[in-house]
Order: sequence, then structure tokens, then C-alpha cells
Amino acid sequence: MAKIQAIKGFADLFADESRLFTFLEQSARTVFFRYGFTELRTPLMEYTDLFCRSIGTETDVVQKEMYTFNDSKGRSMSLRPEATAGVMRAYVENNVGAKESVSKFFTAGPMFRHERPQKGRMRQFHQINCECIGPKEPEADAEMISMLMYFLNYIGIKNITLQLNSLGCPNCRPAYREKLQNWLKSLDTSVLCEDCRRRMETNPLRVLDCKNPSCKEATKDAPLMLDHTCDECAGHFQTVKNCLDSQNIHYEINHRLVRGLDYYTRTAFEVVSDNIGAQGSIAGGGRYDGLVESIGGSSVPGIGFACGMERLALLLQAPEAPKADFYIAVLDDACREYGFKAAQMLRHGELCGTMGFESRSIKSAMRQADKSGAKYAVLIGSSELEQHNLMIKNMENGTQEAVPFDRAVSFIKEGK
Ligand code: HAM
Repeated sequence: MAKIQAIKGFADLFADESRLFTFLEQSARTVFFRYGFTELRTPLMEYTDLFCRSIGTETDVVQKEMYTFNDSKGRSMSLRPEATAGVMRAYVENNVGAKESVSKFFTAGPMFRHERPQKGRMRQFHQINCECIGPKEPEADAEMISMLMYFLNYIGIKNITLQLNSLGCPNCRPAYREKLQNWLKSLDTSVLCEDCRRRMETNPLRVLDCKNPSCKEATKDAPLMLDHTCDECAGHFQTVKNCLDSQNIHYEINHRLVRGLDYYTRTAFEVVSDNIGAQGSIAGGGRYDGLVESIGGSSVPGIGFACGMERLALLLQAPEAPKADFYIAVLDDACREYGFKAAQMLRHGELCGTMGFESRSIKSAMRQADKSGAKYAVLIGSSELEQHNLMIKNMENGTQEAVPFDRAVSFIKEGK
């Protein structure tokens, strides 16, 4: 029969990668809990409208990349392409803002985007995501960015660049948008890619972060948002920079950093690595002061970011696999039930290990024990069964001893 394969861009994560992902999630909990975050797990699927209203109908994510389908009642649903929208929905739906003035949520899990798979770009990928809802002050932006950099350092990520920009606010961005749009229209637009010719009309700021070389070249003298921010946005951005400077957190101003999701206002940032190929953005985020309102909540500001776990994994080694304490081998079919009891007793004594169910010769049993990497081989033959013993062999120094069944846990724990 033909084999069934995994869906393209969806991966199986076996032990090494899983261990790395667990390390990332546990490290995130350690670091983010220090900053007062709590964990929020939201559904993997939401009504499509949530993503249209938050991420924006003109974005690539909503236009081309969502896994969208109708349920049996004809309602449009989408697998989440990111975590922020769902977190905001949960915040509004559960009236969290009425109970606390600042909410800090940490989320980790799979996201889905129908992009062209390549190194560091999957259709099912995983994010570690943080949202801080409530504060409008620039120190909150600096705290989020500092926390992200602390986390990346904590897990051992090196040689990265923090890029920073301000995207203005509803007071200053419309005038800049119009100026940029007019400037773009004055170009010979045939040098722009098809996407940018469309974006020029719908979302002109996105033309600035197109990766296409001819678009980049054509727009190198485009007017810049940072030259057109209102006084409030300029002051906000200056304080963010001052706070980062005070922490010796280095950053580059990237005037072309626009981000692919439409909810951002003011601070936008990305962390980029040169060591993982074309998909170098390992984390990205920013402020979103109008987002909660756009999905039916009150006017509450916020800021957040997400890290791509697959991309972090490309930069890290999996932690070493923990060594098993024991491997139990039975030398005779009649010993299997006794072996089963012994394995259970050792595990209830907080030891880790496996039992080989098939009875084997001593030689074959030792080969299996060796292959398992366990610290101790526990051999059970008819004499162990009769005398209610276990033959325990230290795989490092080769010594072996018949140990009474009830003494086996302490014998192994004492490292004999
Ligand atoms: P984003 O920049 O779209 O932002 O994604 C954040 C990170 O997710 C990226 O920097 C990248 O590491 C990873 N990522 C994105 N797409 C893929 C993919 N197809 N394969 C592998 N990794 C990927 C957001 O999602 C925002 N929700 C972040 C945010 C939170 N902003 C405010 N709060």
C-alpha cells in the first residue's frame, strides 16, 4: 500500500528537537515569569474574521497564507497564523481589562501559514509569544525588548542584531502614508514587483520592506517615517532608545522595518541573525495601541513580540539526552512477569529505564543494555526469580551484584 506522508511544510519533531523545544519553552517560562507574565493557551482555530480585523485584510498573511475553511454550518474558520489576535480575543471576551490594568500573557505553540517552505520557514511552525496589554508608556516597550534580549541571551543565542523603527500613530501616519504614496507614484513603477505595485495602493509602507532588489534600489530615497512622526511619537521613540541605551542593549535603526501585520503603531522591532540563511528574522514585535479596540474591546494599548522556535532551534544544539538509570533484561520467558514488577518498582522509586520484553541470552541482553546507554543492566534469570533478587550490573565499571528485590532502588540510587 502507498505510504501516507506528512503534509508539506509540517514536521515531526523527534527526541532531539523535542528536547530543544522543551528547553526553549521552559527557559521562556523562567525568564518571562520573572517579569510577571502568566501563561495563556488559546485555541488553534478561530473565526476568520478575527484575523481579518486584527492582522488586516491587505496583509500577505490574511490574503495568501491562512488555512481557511468553512465548518458544516458554513462559518469561516482559520488555523491561527500567529498568537496575538487570539490573545486579544481572549482578553476582550473574558473582560480581563476590568479586573486588572496591566495584563502580561505568554503563549507557546504551533501557528500555521501557507508559505513556500524553506530552511527556517514552515507551514506549521512554533512561536513563543508575549503580550503586555495596558501600558502606553515607552518604558513598557523598552521592558519588552529588554526581556526578549535577556531571553535570547539566556538560551545562548549570539551574533544577532536588534532592529528598531517607529511606525507613527493615527495622528502622524496618514500624512506620511500619503506623502510616501505620492512619492511612489512619481516613480517609474515598472521597476517595482507585482506585489509592490498592488501594495502601493493598499499598503504603501509595505513597499519599503520588500526584499526584491529592484524594489529596494528604486525606493532607496523614499521619505522616512522617522522624519514625519508627531512630537508624541518622536518623544516616545526617544525614551525607548534611552532606556535601551541605559541597559547597554545595542540596536540599529532600520527605516525599512514595517512588519507584515497591520496592527502596529509606534515602536516596531525585529531580531535578525545572519547565520540561518534567508529567513533570518528570529523574533519580531511592536506596539499595537488600536488592536484591542479593532476587535470590539475598549481602547487599551499594548505591546508584544513572538520568537520563531524553529529558527531559534537552528542556532542551538539540543541539550544532551538524560541517561537512563536501568535496562531490565529477562533471560527466560518465565521471568517476564517478575521483570515487569521489577521495572515498575524501580520507576515508582523515581528511577528511569526500559524493560526488554523478549527473553534473551546473556550476551544479547548485555548488547541491548549497552545500546540503551543505561547506567545499570538488571538481569533476571531463573535463580533471581527463585531467590527474589535482581542481578544488577554497573555498566561503567563492570561490577555486578545480586541485590534483594526490595533493596534495588536504594542500591542504584547510592550509585553502587
Ligand atoms: P511575525 O514577525 O509574523 O510576528 O512572526 C514572529 C516570528 O515568527 C518571526 O520572527 C519568525 O521567527 C517566526 N515565523 C514567522 N513565520 C514563520 C514560518 N513560516 N516558519 C517559521 N517561523 C516563522 C508575529 O507573528 C506577531 N504576532 C508578533 C507579535 C506579538 N507582535 C506583537 N505581539
